[in-house]
Amino acid sequence: MLREGLIYLSESGKAKKVLTGLPVTRGMSRRFVPGETVDELVGAIKEANAAGLAATANYLGEAEKNEANCRAAADVYYDILDRIHTEHLDANVSMKFTQMGQVISQDFLTENLGRVLTKAKEEDTFIRFDMESSEYVDPTLDEFQGFWDQGWRNIGVVLQSYLFRTMDDARRMVELGTRVRICKGAYNEPPEVAYQERHEVDQSFLDAARLLIAEGNYPGIATHDENMIDGVVRFVTEQKVPSDRFEFQMLHGVRRDLQQELVKAGYRVRVYIPFGVSWYPYLMRRLAERPANMLFMAGSVVKESPLGFLWPGGGRNGRGE
Ligand code: FDA
Repeated sequence: MLREGLIYLSESGKAKKVLTGLPVTRGMSRRFVPGETVDELVGAIKEANAAGLAATANYLGEAEKNEANCRAAADVYYDILDRIHTEHLDANVSMKFTQMGQVISQDFLTENLGRVLTKAKEEDTFIRFDMESSEYVDPTLDEFQGFWDQGWRNIGVVLQSYLFRTMDDARRMVELGTRVRICKGAYNEPPEVAYQERHEVDQSFLDAARLLIAEGNYPGIATHDENMIDGVVRFVTEQKVPSDRFEFQMLHGVRRDLQQELVKAGYRVRVYIPFGVSWYPYLMRRLAERPANMLFMAGSVVKESPLGFLWPGGGRNGRGE
């Protein structure tokens, strides 16, 4: 219920106006979004690299209908790719088709994305296309396959295990030979298209992860769920899959302890580092995933008040994060 409410708020323009004006919301966003500029992003990537983590950089933005904003987003990605190359960062980028012009027109998207793809190819950097809500799945996979068929190979997609269709899509992507990130899915999806029970979403995640590891091309296993991670570790151990055939992926600011445990155990781990001014829907989706984060937020409110010293834990969430 709370999850649905938070996802609803992530899409509400009115709520956005009110909530983004509150210092506490901005403060909370800092946990998940390290900054608004490319310099701040690069600082966070360097910190991650120093801790043994690869990174994927995401300039926040989605559902963009204005051509100038889409071009500006492409400029930012161009700049990020440049910094990754010149500063020898262990990083790639993640972006959304709807940020680059998918909702404007196919021709515009192709043109706007073209120069970013060219730059990434020249520098041998990989671009991941995030997956959005279910109405975008067909357009995204078709768009993606269009670029793949034109010969672009430094690109990959994301599939969400809560959707009924995901095993079929995973088989389609395995056949194509492309890299897939598998995650559970972050949007509110109706029972017509998505599993509603946690155990079903988890089973689908493990099924897809096993298929992608056994038959796919260097999949990204994107989860903070220890049961999913244990299931994958058991599978790769039984099947003697080398640890350089896949990577775990987690979000910046989430389960840093687990990220380090996996690195120490010899697995590859990549953190997704978002940045930029459009942090509001991203933050709301992160709160929806773990409503306990609301306590952290409430803690910050109390901390900012004159009675702040009464709040136990001083705004930390109790897991050292
Ligand atoms: P689950 O939600 O079951 O959480 C398991 C445990 O992880 C929780 O009990 C908690 O301990 C911890 N946890 C999870 N989320 C947390 C949070 N926000 N704060 C603190 N703790 C948290 N989705 C999508 O629809 N399209 C996409 O393209 C992507 N891309 C993507 C990239 C990467 C690298 C990651 C890690 C995730 C995504 N996602 C995504 C989001 C994904 O679909 C999903 O919503 C979250 O990863 C949460 O699901 P978990 O698998 O972590 O399990």
